[in-house]
This record gives sequence, structure tokens and C-alpha cells, in this order.
Amino acid sequence: MHSIHISDAIKSTGKAVRLSGWIYRKRESGGIIFIVLRDVTGLIQAAVKRDSIDEQSWEMATSASIESSVEVSGIVKEDKRSPTGYELVATSFSNTSISEPFPITEYQSTELLLDKRHLWLRSQKMIGVMKARSYIFRYAREFLDRKGFFEITPPMLTKAGGETGANLFETDFFGTKAYLTESSQLYAEAMVFSLEKVYSFAPSFRAENSRTTKHLAEYWHLEPEMAYYNNKKSMALQERLVSHIASRLANQNQEIIKEFGINRDELLKIKAPFKRVSYEDALKLLNDKGFMLKWGDDFGVEHEKALTEAEEKPIFIYNWPKEIKPFYMPINPSDERTVLCADLQAPKGHGEIIGGSERIWKLDELLERMSEVERTKSTKFNMSNYQWWIDLRRYGSVPHAGFGMGIERVIKWLLNLDHIRDAIPFPRMSNRLEP
Ligand code: 4AD
Ligand code: MG
Repeated sequence: MHSIHISDAIKSTGKAVRLSGWIYRKRESGGIIFIVLRDVTGLIQAAVKRDSIDEQSWEMATSASIESSVEVSGIVKEDKRSPTGYELVATSFSNTSISEPFPITEYQSTELLLDKRHLWLRSQKMIGVMKARSYIFRYAREFLDRKGFFEITPPMLTKAGGETGANLFETDFFGTKAYLTESSQLYAEAMVFSLEKVYSFAPSFRAENSRTTKHLAEYWHLEPEMAYYNNKKSMALQERLVSHIASRLANQNQEIIKEFGINRDELLKIKAPFKRVSYEDALKLLNDKGFMLKWGDDFGVEHEKALTEAEEKPIFIYNWPKEIKPFYMPINPSDERTVLCADLQAPKGHGEIIGGSERIWKLDELLERMSEVERTKSTKFNMSNYQWWIDLRRYGSVPHAGFGMGIERVIKWLLNLDHIRDAIPFPRMSNRLEP
């Protein structure tokens, strides 16, 4: 007999089935060993009864420890007393591999769970997050693929930063300095002149030493780039992308929603359009709440929280001061202090999930803006590193726009996780490179 999954077994009550999985819980009482078996689809309780099973199966079940991999055959019954609602009455039991004493027991410190991350990934919580993560990747790709985007694959090793350049990881590239990419945007831009609408879905690396609940040193970055789009059109695409992900999650993942105690109706409310607030108005709103921000100040965690704590949907904050945004954003013709861009802030202080903008597409305008940045920015911004990218403006340039979405930020927000590290299987943070 072939093994089937637990989710199929519970649809086969009264029939003989064979299951393969891992021991999640185990206890013995009055000649019966109760084993909660885990596989990718869920949990089921198996009862191994001494007086109705062969000697070898009984011995195997006796010696099986938590997290041992096992095979159990038996008949599935509905059973209200079982913690899983069903019980497999075992007719045969065997160990595939007995587990050494599992180092994770109940009530462990966060640090231990991070040290044992390779094993903690088997917990019900992490299984739920990893499934949701995979689905969110799928929904994002599905949305863009249906809109005619091409997925592209940018390099991870780069000669210069693509963003502020302030937090680059440096490495040696056959004797010259190279950097792990902080954004794939510049490469995505190169490809809109052939494929028109593209996205890259790849890691970005940020050597940010800040120990916050929102920053990873390596995160997965979805970066769409679109020819003939302006910032407004890009924002409309962003809100529809986010709505698509939220509604798919709400409609296709009852189990995950239950696991994380998510309110499905709240997820379904995340529908375009989202509120749009200019930087200037956001500044006023914050100062009305008692902050003392000056024009030109960037927003910190407490400001983001104040702006979004009462919101049910993300909000756009658009047209930021040019001094606090990168070199590729065009000056806003109706207010030359600002650039044509928008950040999308998740509700309830979960932070910025998207940063996007129009791109300067005219050569003379770009050279002027980049020289200005070179003169005024304190970072080691050097125009000579961007000649190939500037070149794109020399050969049939067109207006274009794009944005970057931090996938772990989206997962943290939608699953309401306390910390971004739980949104990725093997987090990389300033104090963690292992496992
Ligand atoms: O706002 P950022 O820095 O924008 C860019 O990199 C643009 N070049 C994107 C583009 O237009 N193609 O980063 C974009 C998003 C942020 O909104 C945030 O969601 C996420 O990336 N992000 C991080 N996520 C986790 N850990 C970090 N350290 C992050 N830094 C940014
Ligand atoms: Mg940003």
C-alpha cells in the first residue's frame, strides 16, 4: 500500500490507509500508545493497542521518540475525543528513523529557537508561516504574470549601490571591490526597454545594524518596473497587487488564517483604493499629534506608527523631500522641493511595505540631478559607477516607473507576526548568520 497524506486519510473514514510522517506528541495509557502524527497536511492521532497489534509493531511504537519518522497503517475513524477529531487505529507500525532526544521542548527562549531554527521550522507556527510565505510569493507572481509582466533575474554581485549606498555589504571580486545588491531596480530598468513590464523577485542585502523588528540584512524583494508608467499609475498597480495578495490569502487559506488568529473579514477589507497622503500633509498630521517635525525630516518608527495605527488598509505617503530620497527620482514639477514617489505604509505600525517612484528618464535631467546628489550627499556616491545605467537614457529612453516590495514586511503584517525574522526561514540579522 502507498502512503497517503493525513488530509486525504480523514476523508477515508472506515478504510485502511498507510501514513508516513513524524511524531509530534506521544503518550501511553493502559496498554495504548497515543501518537500524534504530523505530515505536511496536518496532524492526526494514531492509537497503537498492545492487544491488537503484532509484537514487532508494538516494540517499534514503544521505542519511537518525538520527531522520529514513522509509518503507520490502520483504519481511520472519526473520534470526538481525539485532539484532531480523527483517530487512526493502527494495524501496523514501523520506525523509519528514530530521533535522538529533540532539543526543543515546550517554553524555550527565543534565542534557542533561533539557534535551532533548522529544527524549529517543524513547529506548527513555522509550518504555517512557511506555507503562507510560499502562497504569498505565488499570489504576487500570479498577479503580475496575468498583467503581462516578464520575470527577470538580475545579478546579486554589483559594482555600486542601487539605492542610498549607505548599507552595502562589501566583498572581494577577483581583486576589485564588489557589493551584494541592495536593490535590483537599475537592472530592471535596463530590461523595460525590451520587455516593457518586468519584475525581479530576488534577495536584497542591507548591512543595517539597526536591531528593529522590521529589518533583515537579507530580504526578498519584489521589484516591478514598467515602461510608460508614471507614479500615479504605479501606485494604482501597487494597491491592486496588495489587495490581490490579501484577498487570495483570505479566500484560499482557512487553516492558516485559523492558525494565526487572523480576522478574515479584516483581510477582505484590504481592497484598492488606498488612502493617499502627501508628505506635507503627513507632516502636519504628525505635528498636530504633538510631534515636532520640520520640513525635510524623515519619519521614524514612532511616526509611522502614529500615522497608521488607526488604519485598516495601507496608506500611501507620496512626494517626499528630494534630500531624503535617492538619485533616480524626478523632481516634482509642481513643488520643486519634492520628488515623484510614494511609500506604502502597512496599517498598525507594521511599517513601510513598498517604496516606489517615477524614474528620471531624460539624460540632461538625470545628469543634473546626479551631479547635485554627488555634490550634496555625504555618502560615497560616485556617478562614474553608473555609466551603463545613465546610458539607457541615450538610446530611445521612455518614461518609466517602478517599486520595491519587501515580502517579509508583507508577511509580518498579514500574519500579524511580532518580528520580521519569523517571516523568513533562515533570518540574517546583524547578530545572526547561523544556521
Ligand atoms: O524603499 P527601498 O529601499 O526602495 C528600493 O530599494 C527601490 N530601489 C525599490 C524599487 O523602486 N525597485 O526598499 C523597498 C522595500 C521597502 O519598502 C521595504 O518593504 C523593504 O524593501 N525593505 C526591507 N525589508 C526588510 N529588511 C530591510 N532591511 C529592508 N529594507 C527595505
Ligand atoms: Mg524606502
